[in-house]
Amino acid sequence: MNTVLLLGCDGYIGNALTQRLLFKGYKVIGIDNFLRRYWVQDIMHSFSSIPILNMIEKVAKFKEIGNFEFYNIDIVKDYNSLYNIISSEKIGTIINLAHIPSGPFSQISHECADITLKNNYLGTNNILWGIRELCPEAHYITIGTTGEYDHYSNIDIEEGYIVLNHKGRKSNEMIYPRRPGSIYHCSKTASTYLIDFLSRTWDLMCTDIQQAVVFGSYTEEIDNTKIYSRFDSDEAAGTVINRFIVQSILGVPLTIYGRGEHQRGFISLNDSIQALMLAVENVAEKGSVQVWNQLSEWHSINEVSDMIINVGKKFGMDIKKSYIQSPRTEYTGKHYYKYITQKLSKLGYIPTRSIEEEIEYVYNILAPLKKDLEPLKHVVEPKILWKEK
Ligand SMILES: NC(=O)c1ccc[n+]([C@@H]2O[C@H](COP(=O)([O-])OP(=O)(O)OC[C@H]3O[C@@H](n4cnc5c(N)ncnc54)[C@H](O)[C@@H]3O)[C@@H](O)[C@H]2O)c1
Repeated sequence: MNTVLLLGCDGYIGNALTQRLLFKGYKVIGIDNFLRRYWVQDIMHSFSSIPILNMIEKVAKFKEIGNFEFYNIDIVKDYNSLYNIISSEKIGTIINLAHIPSGPFSQISHECADITLKNNYLGTNNILWGIRELCPEAHYITIGTTGEYDHYSNIDIEEGYIVLNHKGRKSNEMIYPRRPGSIYHCSKTASTYLIDFLSRTWDLMCTDIQQAVVFGSYTEEIDNTKIYSRFDSDEAAGTVINRFIVQSILGVPLTIYGRGEHQRGFISLNDSIQALMLAVENVAEKGSVQVWNQLSEWHSINEVSDMIINVGKKFGMDIKKSYIQSPRTEYTGKHYYKYITQKLSKLGYIPTRSIEEEIEYVYNILAPLKKDLEPLKHVVEPKILWKEK
């Protein structure tokens, strides 16, 4: 079985994916430099609502599950160490999750924009050069984001590529147009173009899964091991469903941007991992990028908040909504929203966890911790503005 090099193994998705790979019998070499732990703690002054292990404890637990090695390496600044690892072992798959994944974080300041752009773009560049020079037969897998596209494009969003008809002529196949919604999404879009160019140029095999917003805490493995993925709720690190869950437990009204009629796509953590495993098992063709759009459900933010309110009732909570001006550059009214998501379905992908089910699962973990979450009251309110009002 393949050895998998997993960059960003300590993160929200990486922690869960490491466990799935180990239980399936893969050898996993994990890399992380704890950038996520640093920026949540020192810049957002926040912490994971679900307590997580430190890396020493986590590595020991992962080694009990299977064949795991860990290296604390910055894949952007320390590519010599990265290359040493790649060349020391026959690696079949490289999964890159080592990005800063936050729109609000990238909009805080010039410094935060700078670190997001460099980390995400130059990290991608380092790994692709490593593959070219050291293991050209390895399959490169990464997660893009549906936020690279224009949520308001008013036409169907195709999976990966499109042929344009313009003034009676047909174009070559080209990357489906992007219209990123934050500096973070610009870094992801730039990485998408880099992967496309270098795979064509060097005959690499690449997979880019354009995932929607990931939510929840359950995976088949985490439910047993209790080696939880971090679960953030501050305005930069917490995605909307996770943030609403913590707001509701704290008795803070759910902060809905604008009219709350804008649609977004969602995937449970378990289904994010399901798609990544399908990528591991279905290698892209040489010289191409296989692109999959992945959304399990799509709803307006109002609908999502209603789900939280309904599930909260079962836990005796009386949850309120607060409509506030969106801090982002975004339209919050009704709009057309359709992503084509056929490729994963053809490979047997079936969503496993609904939003309501996952809200209930997380309430069961977090409701007893309400007192410990009190300090988060100061960080769940959105304050980061895309531009001055
Ligand atoms: N979580 C979501 O809702 C979501 C949705 C769509 C796409 N994605 C993408 O999925 C990927 C993983 O997201 P996540 O939510 O798990 O993020 P995360 O921040 O929890 O995980 C990223 C991990 O990579 C590490 N890392 C970052 N830069 C590094 C570097 N230079 N060297 C070594 N390690 C580094 C971080 O410390 C962290 O542990 C990202 O590429 C993100 O853009 C996430």
